[in-house]
Amino acid sequence: MSERKPVIEVRGLRFRYADGTMALDGVDFRLYAGETVALFGRNGSGKTTFVHHLNGLLRGEGEVTVCGLPVKKENLPTVRRKIGLVFQDSDEQLFMPTVLEDVAFGPLNLGFGAAEAIEVARAALREVGLESLANKAPYHLSAGEKKRVALAGILAMQPEILVLDEPTTFLDPPSQSQLASLLRSLPQAKLIVTHDANFALALATRAVFFEKGKIVAEGSVEEIVERFQWIPRTLREREFTTHQAE
Ligand SMILES: Nc1ncnc2c1ncn2[C@@H]1O[C@H](COP(=O)(O)OP(=O)(O)OP(=O)(O)O)[C@@H](O)[C@H]1O
Ligand SMILES: [Mg+2]
Repeated sequence: MSERKPVIEVRGLRFRYADGTMALDGVDFRLYAGETVALFGRNGSGKTTFVHHLNGLLRGEGEVTVCGLPVKKENLPTVRRKIGLVFQDSDEQLFMPTVLEDVAFGPLNLGFGAAEAIEVARAALREVGLESLANKAPYHLSAGEKKRVALAGILAMQPEILVLDEPTTFLDPPSQSQLASLLRSLPQAKLIVTHDANFALALATRAVFFEKGKIVAEGSVEEIVERFQWIPRTLREREFTTHQAE
């Protein structure tokens, strides 16, 4: 077990924003091949800041390695090929005039020919169920559609690791189920930042819990959800009263 090499390894990561906010205060984390890890934590606990360190969008103190490569300037092109990050805010991710061009942008950048890039992009759009929107402008899409296009853009690059920051936000229930089955069918190691305990229970093999810029607990998704009561109270109460009434 200890022989396995992690695909992501983070040691002692600290980061302070320019205004003085201490967003990461000593994070140690490993992700292994084949794992799907759910990352939970309150709003503002540092989850997005953390994932932005994994492909070098932010640089803090400490060590971050991806597939054995330190995340530093000279390795960024390689690191960004290995790790696909779907942003919490899709507007930060989509920038081309049409959906198809946006999804084809990554493969083109990787050196695919135009025809091949288009083919890969169409296949990725099919995977997220949005082939029919290929010619639309990304900024005309609904929030859930944007999220799915951003995911297609990452899938088209076939990274070794998928990092998804709140992938279910704005998705309707059928799209959430579709996303869960799609992710389950993909072989990559995955790190999923989510507030959605049910989504994590359906997918993740392990969970970690962030608090004030630190990982304060780690365990099975069930253990973490139970320990932090990570299902909204109103929903739990309703479940309780329904059961009582039976
Ligand atoms: N650009 C910034 N400048 C200053 N402070 C920031 C900046 N971005 C985030 N922060 C602060 O850093 C902390 C961590 O923010 P982060 O976005 O990582 O939280 P999060 O866990 O992803 O929250 P959420 O669940 O709401 O997405 C917060 O206190 C936030 O206010
Ligand atoms: Mg966030």
